[in-house]
Amino acid sequence: MKKRMLSGIKPSGQLHLGNYIGALRNFVRYQDDYEMVVFIANLHCITVPQEPTALQTNLRDAAALYIASGLDPQKATIFLQSDVMAHSQLSFILQSHSYLGELNRMTQYKDKVAKGETELTVGLYTYPTLMAADILIQDAHYVPVGIDQKQHVELTRDIAQRMNNRYKKTLFTIPEPLIEKVGSKIYSLQNVENKMSKSDTTEKDIIYLLDPVKTATKKIMSAVTDSENKIAYDPVNQPGISNLLTIAASLQVQNIDTIVSECKNMQYGAFKKYVADIVAKTLSEIQDKYNEVIESNMLEKVLQDGAEKAAITANNRLAMVQETLGLEIIGGKL
Ligand code: TYM
Repeated sequence: MKKRMLSGIKPSGQLHLGNYIGALRNFVRYQDDYEMVVFIANLHCITVPQEPTALQTNLRDAAALYIASGLDPQKATIFLQSDVMAHSQLSFILQSHSYLGELNRMTQYKDKVAKGETELTVGLYTYPTLMAADILIQDAHYVPVGIDQKQHVELTRDIAQRMNNRYKKTLFTIPEPLIEKVGSKIYSLQNVENKMSKSDTTEKDIIYLLDPVKTATKKIMSAVTDSENKIAYDPVNQPGISNLLTIAASLQVQNIDTIVSECKNMQYGAFKKYVADIVAKTLSEIQDKYNEVIESNMLEKVLQDGAEKAAITANNRLAMVQETLGLEIIGGKL
């Protein structure tokens, strides 16, 4: 039997090239070898304020982009997180087996506190336990993510192990993060020390998957580089060039060394054009399929079928957990 693999993206803005390279393209690559379960983490989106109409557009676009990037609904189970209610219910159970100290250590939350953000919601704080529930309730062995999510998967493992030990039963499979060697952290094009991120960057930092190809090309052409004047993979001294090399290598599915030897005699302008062409090719392929998906009106059925399938696994696991914890009287049948 194939092992189960699960992942999700939180479309609190539009999906970007970092999401594609660090996560989405890997879901596609793995869908033949694993029982693939991917969802849209819409509840995670509302841990920060969202404008409802914009949110709905972003969710629909994300679903379409999953398919446009190559996920095949016949192979992968694709659904919207809030359509499978057991995820949130398990989240509360996991919160009751997690400690404040653990959640205080989560860097995504800590970073926001460090930046002096004041209106932090309780949902943002408990967000990692919902992510843990997503993973554990779907019985995932592997979780393909970018490096920024590794800590959350480790917390998930800790909670799962703790509960398995406490109740002397394998309530949960212990999941493993799957992080690619190349592309697990794509950096902003302008602030090369920060990751490319939908929340805290300006338009020139980030390439959205639905950016017009011309816009994306312009952004790459104005990416920050350095004054070394050589094409080399050296993230410390040449972070901008190294980021562009990583983007090219990931999209071409080639080693960084291969790209370096192909480009080593180029001036920076020519190198940027080379990377921009690779990005343009990827985006236009994705966007052509995105348009087909939107026009075909297939999303509703894909999400409906996906939610039904995901709910079977989730409801079974939730029932087993609730029974083990002594929560049931009439077997959760209502
Ligand atoms: P999110 O929406 O922030 O990111 C989705 C995926 O994209 C990866 N990623 C990146 N990879 C490389 N470079 C970048 N600049 C970059 N930015 C983002 C992330 O590592 C992630 O894999 N909490 C999750 C969503 C989630 C989830 C889950 C994921 C909810 N439940 C269960 C896995 C399993 C999140 O906010 O990802």
